[in-house]
Amino acid sequence: MRSDSIVEAIGNTPLVELPTFSPKPGVRVFAKLEGHNPTGSVKDRIARAMVRKAQAEGALSPEKTLLEPTSGNTGVSLAMIAARLGYRFTAVMPDNVGPERTELLRAFGAEVVYSPGAEGTNGAIALARRMADDAPGRYTMLYQYGNEANPAAHYETTGPEIVADLPEVTHFVAGLGTGGTLMGAGRRLKEHNPAVKVIAAAPEPDDRIQGLRSLEEGFVPPILDLSRLDARMMVSAKESFNLAAALLHQEGVFAGVSSGAVLAAALRAGRRLDSANIVCLFADGGWKYLSTRLWTRSYEELGAEVEGKVWW
Ligand SMILES: Cc1ncc(COP(=O)(O)O)c(C=O)c1O
Repeated sequence: MRSDSIVEAIGNTPLVELPTFSPKPGVRVFAKLEGHNPTGSVKDRIARAMVRKAQAEGALSPEKTLLEPTSGNTGVSLAMIAARLGYRFTAVMPDNVGPERTELLRAFGAEVVYSPGAEGTNGAIALARRMADDAPGRYTMLYQYGNEANPAAHYETTGPEIVADLPEVTHFVAGLGTGGTLMGAGRRLKEHNPAVKVIAAAPEPDDRIQGLRSLEEGFVPPILDLSRLDARMMVSAKESFNLAAALLHQEGVFAGVSSGAVLAAALRAGRRLDSANIVCLFADGGWKYLSTRLWTRSYEELGAEVEGKVWW
């Protein structure tokens, strides 16, 4: 497909069936492969939408710096889009993330500021807030957790793409991070067919799955309206790792750890149904998680190496 620029090449990702994961003949499972976006994740969609919204509101100028607390994919997407559209970008992230992430952000032209690793993404959010407060007028914080352009991007792009490729969709399953994917694509799919069920995959409270958050930690993103979810399923890190590996081995689909969690939730729902067309949203590809070796070792073999750690 031809595009005027890389920013226009975001979206229109493939929807592929996963026949070997079908729990019974009438229940079909499909995956929307967001790793096919320009910087390799679903976050390209919202980064473009948030920067365009800020532009339209006059909140951006070449003197201002975009600021975002992000532990990963959103930062890389914003770094690329800010650079393409002519803005500076500073990412605030925990200091215990892997080296690939810092290198990638810098490669795309971003400045990186570290927050204490032990405080996780909440620490990065607090530090970014302080930076913005301490230097009035210097930064524009997009804040994906509270920015309506986040769900709107999914309402305008992800949702319609699924409807176009699979009008008979009955269930939509996505990971719960900011909630943007679930809210935006979910709303669009329910407009198409009010019977569509929207299911969130979230980590079990003590587990860490990159990109996903447990609401039990106490923070509910402002854009997330829990009443618009039909179900929220808790998935363990072990199940997520195992299914991410199985996806590659059974289907040749190389997706990240949160995609394993999404597939786990989809299969749990699918086993209870007699007929369904379940769409799973796989937020990114497996590249950033290669160093876990999850595709060539069992979870038990990885053991303490992966338990409790947040992988890039
Ligand atoms: C790898 C990964 N999976 C899932 C998600 C969740 O998406 P959302 O923020 O739209 O809830 C994110 C982003 O937070 C992510 O980076």
